[in-house]
Amino acid sequence: MEIDLTPIVQRWDKLGSALGTELFVVRDDLLPFPLAGNKVRKLAAEFRIMPHSTTLVISNGGIDSNHCRTAAWFAALHGVRSHLVLHGACAEGGRALEMLRALGATYQVVRPTGIAETLSAAASHERDRGGVPVVIPGGCHSRAGAIAYRDAGLSVLREIHPNSVYVASGTGATQGGLIAAAARSASPPKIVGISVARDRGHGSIAVEEAARWAGADQASICFDDGFRAGGYARQDERTVDAVRFGWEHGLPLDGTYTGKAFAAILEAGRAGATPPEDRLLAHGWSLELDRWLDLMLTILARAHALPSLYTRTHCRPSPRVSCAERTLPRVAEYA
Ligand SMILES: Cc1ncc(COP(=O)(O)O)c(C=O)c1O
Repeated sequence: MEIDLTPIVQRWDKLGSALGTELFVVRDDLLPFPLAGNKVRKLAAEFRIMPHSTTLVISNGGIDSNHCRTAAWFAALHGVRSHLVLHGACAEGGRALEMLRALGATYQVVRPTGIAETLSAAASHERDRGGVPVVIPGGCHSRAGAIAYRDAGLSVLREIHPNSVYVASGTGATQGGLIAAAARSASPPKIVGISVARDRGHGSIAVEEAARWAGADQASICFDDGFRAGGYARQDERTVDAVRFGWEHGLPLDGTYTGKAFAAILEAGRAGATPPEDRLLAHGWSLELDRWLDLMLTILARAHALPSLYTRTHCRPSPRVSCAERTLPRVAEYA
């Protein structure tokens, strides 16, 4: 199945003038693939290069990861089984786990220290039974993922010529790809990565690696860790304020990724740090996933009469370890 991934670029005049700048937003959340955050481009690229003989896609991420949910979705579309190695507290991932089950995926919840070992055990198990496993790195921090964002960036930068591009930076593949796109464009914008989790030291290394994968050697990296709000999926007043400001102007933002990048744009705008002729381009905005998940699951439950989607008994808030043990399937369960 081919999905049209032509970037959707919008000009936001009211919001831009409230910020004293010209604002364009690239709406990857509106690509024809639901609830994916910015993962759809990266995963489409991974599935494009995957051997036809693949029988099982294996990947990892946080328990409510967009990436894992989207990987399971792509696998279902391609008629391939998927197995996800997840970490985090079960209480956070109730709906996300329900979504994975609805997509026919299997999963294990493990401690972060057990991820690498579990991924390789799942791959060996699949090989032992004669299958062909493919392991996709968590968050799609991969060469294919970075190149997918480079190509999307190039096609946007052919149409508009911003001075700066703000992007939420997690694993760094998106920012790395955009840096490579900027390096190839006639008037290169500054690519400003706003960290959603990592400190500058760790984050910059990952971005640099992704930029190299996408063909930009010795790129200068702008990775701002001042809007992390304490770490992944945490929010502070600035994040909450940015998300509210965006929604009030009709731009749907989330508190994990896009809200943090937008907080940086908002702060620059309020401080008058953006000259009027400047153009900001926010890349890869995602929707507030939980709200959409609720909606989707309601539709799913009605369509397929799956009342279990509403029951979270398997996943009541409980201590991290016992929860992980309860949901940990034996290898045989996904064989
Ligand atoms: C909307 C959005 N922006 C940015 C990112 C970060 O991308 P990366 O992991 O490539 O840094 C994500 C990751 O899920 C995302 O969903």
